[in-house]
Order: sequence, then C-alpha cells, then structure tokens
Amino acid sequence: MSEHYDLILSGGTVFTPSGEAATDVGVREGRIAAIGDLGGADAAGTLPCSGLHVLPGVIDTQVHFREPGAEHKEDLASGSASAVAGGVTAVFEMPNTNPLTATAEALDDKLRRARGRMWCDHAFYAGATGDNAEALRELELRPGCCGIKVFMGSSTGDLLVPDDEGVAAVLASGRRRVAVHAEDEPRMRERHHLVAGGAPVAMHPEWRDVETALRATRRLVALAERHSRPVHVLHVTTADEMRFLAEHRRLATVETTPQHLTLSAPECYERLGALAQMNPPIRDVRHTEGLWEAVRDGVVDVIGSDHAPHTLEEKAKPYPGSPSGMGGVQTLVPLLLHHAHEGRLSLARFVDLTSGGPARIFNIAGKGRIALGYDADFTVVDLSAARTIENRWLRSRSGWTPFDGMRVRGWPIATVVRGRVAMRDDELLGPPRGRPVAFWDCHPVPGES
Ligand code: DOR
Repeated sequence: MSEHYDLILSGGTVFTPSGEAATDVGVREGRIAAIGDLGGADAAGTLPCSGLHVLPGVIDTQVHFREPGAEHKEDLASGSASAVAGGVTAVFEMPNTNPLTATAEALDDKLRRARGRMWCDHAFYAGATGDNAEALRELELRPGCCGIKVFMGSSTGDLLVPDDEGVAAVLASGRRRVAVHAEDEPRMRERHHLVAGGAPVAMHPEWRDVETALRATRRLVALAERHSRPVHVLHVTTADEMRFLAEHRRLATVETTPQHLTLSAPECYERLGALAQMNPPIRDVRHTEGLWEAVRDGVVDVIGSDHAPHTLEEKAKPYPGSPSGMGGVQTLVPLLLHHAHEGRLSLARFVDLTSGGPARIFNIAGKGRIALGYDADFTVVDLSAARTIENRWLRSRSGWTPFDGMRVRGWPIATVVRGRVAMRDDELLGPPRGRPVAFWDCHPVPGES
C-alpha cells in the first residue's frame, strides 16, 4: 500500500540541502515527510509545481505590524496577509508598538492577538527601554519571543537606548539574539539643526549621515566584544559599516534591506519625496554598490524588509514631520528574485539570505531548509514570470509601495505554511493558521513539549 500525504508539491525544481532537484515533496502533519518521486502516492491535496521552483519558506526577520496602537496603518492580520501574499512564511515583529513590547504582559498580548488572525508563523521581539535589562532576561525566554531589539538612535516610537551604559546593560543580561538599530543619537541631536526648521527630504541622509551610522556600529561592536555577546546589526546602509563589519564576523551578524539595495539618492528623493524616507536613510550609489559587494562577499547574513507602513496622509506632512519607513514585506521576494534575474545574486544566495540565514542567526527550530522532518514551509516561485508591482496588489493597510509601477522578473506563485497553502496565484486561502515560531535556545519549544 502506498504512503498517504496531506499535500504533495509535485514536479517542481526543489531547493534541497544537496542542491536543486526535479522532484516531489510530500507533507504530513505540517512537516516534510518525503522528498523524491511520489508518483502514485495518495494525497489529500496536490500543488502542481511544474515549471516552478520550490524554495524553503522565506522568513522576514524585521517587520513592524503596528498592533497594538496604530492599527490605522497595519495590524497583525493585514501585515501577515501581506506577508503570505508576497511569499513570506514567517515574520519577526518589532516592539515599537503602543504599548511597547517591553513586558511579559505586552508580549503575551501580541501572541494572543496573533492567534487565529495571523496568516504566517511569527515571533515578537522584546524591546529594550533603557531600564528593563534585568526584566529582559526572563522576557527573552518566553515562547514566541525571537530576541531583543535595541534602538540606539531614535526612530518611530518611544524605544531608545542612546548611551553605552544602557546598551552594555542589555548585553550583560541574557543570552538570546540582540538586534540593533545602530544610529548614534548624540550625533543626530547635534545635527538636527540641519533639518529642524523644515528642509527638502533629500537632506535626510545628510542629517542622519554615514558617520551617524558608522559611529553607532563601532560603539556597538566594541560593547559586543567587551561583553562577549554577539549582536545582529539591522538594516546596514553604508559601504563603510560593511567594511568594518567584515572585520568583526565573530561578533556581529548583518542585515540589509531590499529598499537599500534597490533605491539610491538623490534619485529616490526626487521621484518619491518622503515615500523614500526611512531610518537609516537610503543613500547614494556608492553605498548601494557597497551593500551589493557585501551581499556578494558573504558579509550580509540576512535580508529583512523592515516593513514599516505609514499612511499616505502621514507621509504628506512636510519634512521632517513626515514619518520614516515604508512597507516591504510583500515586495521582498519579487524584488530579490528580480535582482537574481539581473544577475546580482544567485538563487542559492537568495535562499541563504531569506531562509537559512534567519534560521542560523535566530536559532530557529525546524525551519530554514527543505529537509525531512522540517516544517513544510515553502515559497513557490516562478523565476521567469514578468509582472509589475502595483499598489492595488498590496494587502498592507497602508496601501502603497515605493516600487509601484516597477516591472520585475520573478514572482511568488504559492505560499505554504506548515503544509497548508496560504496563498496561490495572488489569492489568500484561509483561514489564517499562523503559529509562534520555535527556537533551539528557548525552552520549552512550543508544540514539542
Ligand atoms: O524608517 C524606519 N521606520 N526605521 C525604523 O527604525 C522604524 C520604522 C518604523 O517603525 O516606522
């Protein structure tokens, strides 16, 4: 008698740990149960993947979904719908909500809100406030917590740890991943007069300049060394930081974003105005090229979207009153596939940056590769599809992307989350079934105990 599967992904080019293979994948009870020729096997459902690539599920380790506190821009339901519509199977969500995710109550509240409403798997960062270092030790071990977030420079929301003492206290306490927004707050304050009375948005990378980013990253790495605690540097934007970080690979892991790899100043500010405003800023082409070099050389571990939606109305305020940030969770896969099509990165590097890298850095249990017994999370893509990114395709409540109108090659065709097809051909297939992500370094592992 042949084996029975809940789902078979048939006839795709499957990205296995041994390389690409033209084969089938069988799923049972949310896990990968077979990789091989399953012709004739019995299955409750089949996802035909002929002509498509079956990749490990894309994990976006930096999103802001705004719930609670700013649900007019996004919430956990709309943000995660946007994720699966874009081929993303899991997200790590940021703590600069209102209230801040800085207590056990706030973290548990997000997990409760996520249940039955989030379309993809998820975990939440605990935020460092400057006086909760001790509390973070307990908080970071709660199920559903992916690590700690530190803002060294102020951005959207109230989280800020501007001084070395505060960052040191966080690094000295606990052991899970510390992800850091590295911009030097004292230098930003010193330079704020450049934009204070109103200025063109093109001044954004002048105010928050290269030195602002580099100085914070240097301070951070020195503290990581002193406390023997590795750090994860979020959205690195400068060639200078990349060169520095390349010399400190044992202390720091590195993220950059699709928007910093795709847009550059001054063109983006001329064309998009405040829609191109984010922190740290989009910079000139010397840096865009420096980031690509760092992707090529293996300095970048992860690409995260920094999905940070604001409404068009909010963005219309005169700079610097316009908020920083732009959506990105739904456009991450198409943009990176497009760059792959243009020869800027290989498919293997894409998988490393969006799946293997996140799993490695954050100690994710059972995700990050297509392997027997792993979660059946897949991003099924058509590498040759020619599509146009359009605002009306978005599921994000904010409703706009800086990439509206961009023609791309490569598109997510289906999103499978633990064996359930959550998106196929741009259509969401409910109900939402996202669950908390499990971590090797956090016990008990949810669902395994
Ligand atoms: O541009 C940004 N927007 N950078 C951040 O660090 C925060 C984010 C937001 O939450 O809006």
